[in-house]
Amino acid sequence: MIEVEQLSKSYGPREAIRNLSFQIEKGEVVGFLGPNGAGKSTTMNILSCIMPASSGSVKICGFDVFEQSLETRKLIGYLPETPPLYSDMVASDYLTFAARLRNVPSRKARSAVEQVIEKCSLKDVSNRVIGRLSKGYQQRVGIAQALIHDPDILILDEPTIGLDPIQIIEIRKLIQDLASSHTIILSSHILPEITQICKRVIIISEGEIVAVDSLESLTTRLRNGERLILKVRRSDGETIEKLRALDQTNAVVEQETGQFTIDCEPNANIQDAIAKLALDNNWGIVELKPASMTLEDIFLKLTLEENEVKP
Ligand SMILES: Nc1ncnc2c1ncn2[C@@H]1O[C@H](COP(=O)(O)OP(=O)(O)OP(=O)(O)O)[C@@H](O)[C@H]1O
Ligand SMILES: [Mg+2]
Repeated sequence: MIEVEQLSKSYGPREAIRNLSFQIEKGEVVGFLGPNGAGKSTTMNILSCIMPASSGSVKICGFDVFEQSLETRKLIGYLPETPPLYSDMVASDYLTFAARLRNVPSRKARSAVEQVIEKCSLKDVSNRVIGRLSKGYQQRVGIAQALIHDPDILILDEPTIGLDPIQIIEIRKLIQDLASSHTIILSSHILPEITQICKRVIIISEGEIVAVDSLESLTTRLRNGERLILKVRRSDGETIEKLRALDQTNAVVEQETGQFTIDCEPNANIQDAIAKLALDNNWGIVELKPASMTLEDIFLKLTLEENEVKP
């Protein structure tokens, strides 16, 4: 449904994104993750026909976003990083205005506005001035304007940024509801958000893709023999040295007395060796297990690795 090929964008001499290529299928909910300045908003602006790329191509349902922007704009609803809200307008008037901007025929505008008010639970505030609404409700109005022309694809740039925890939960719930009937690309730094809502993630760092994968296989891929946790009853100064001396260990850290994290080569399979060592030295194993990596770990690992190879 969305095909991005070799997409690059420079702002003057500054290259914001470089040769991004990825595909998104109909109905997918994809997380777009990356640290500040990674190029998330730049990519989303290009996908939403707000800004041209410097090179590369984007096709949405077969339409080229540069050549056939009228067609692609019909298919996409966009919530930019700073939603285009008019703070002195009444919410429902603003949505009527947004319908006109999006070329919704005037006879359908009213029902379009009613529908998005319903979908985004804005009924109670639809007669209020946008500037006086809470940030969470303003964000709902932002999502409502993105939905006004009933697009198949929703592009949401950091939809929960600046919201309080309750508002975050509500907006996430709204996005999850929308996910059943839309293809969604969602950018975020809030990693648990991506875990909750998205099946697949695209991770970018400094303008380049460092991973495109399902959350599951990302976790498995990175966890394979990566890190073990060992807890023992008895340890002394030599314990850590003996662990470090094992083949295929990269780093051993004593987190607290008797508890070690052991980083090893992928697929090292050194549990047996560790167990034997513990037995021979009478450490008394309490626990020996692979540490599960959180998305934070994965994210840091991928983005830091990416930075390491840079000069
Ligand atoms: N209009 C612009 N003119 C010049 N440079 C820009 C412009 N917009 C973005 N950049 C630069 O391009 C790079 C990517 O920015 P972008 O806003 O796409 O990142 P982002 O991933 O959305 O970051 P954030 O998480 O902070 O929103 C950054 O280095 C940024 O400084
Ligand atoms: Mg951004």
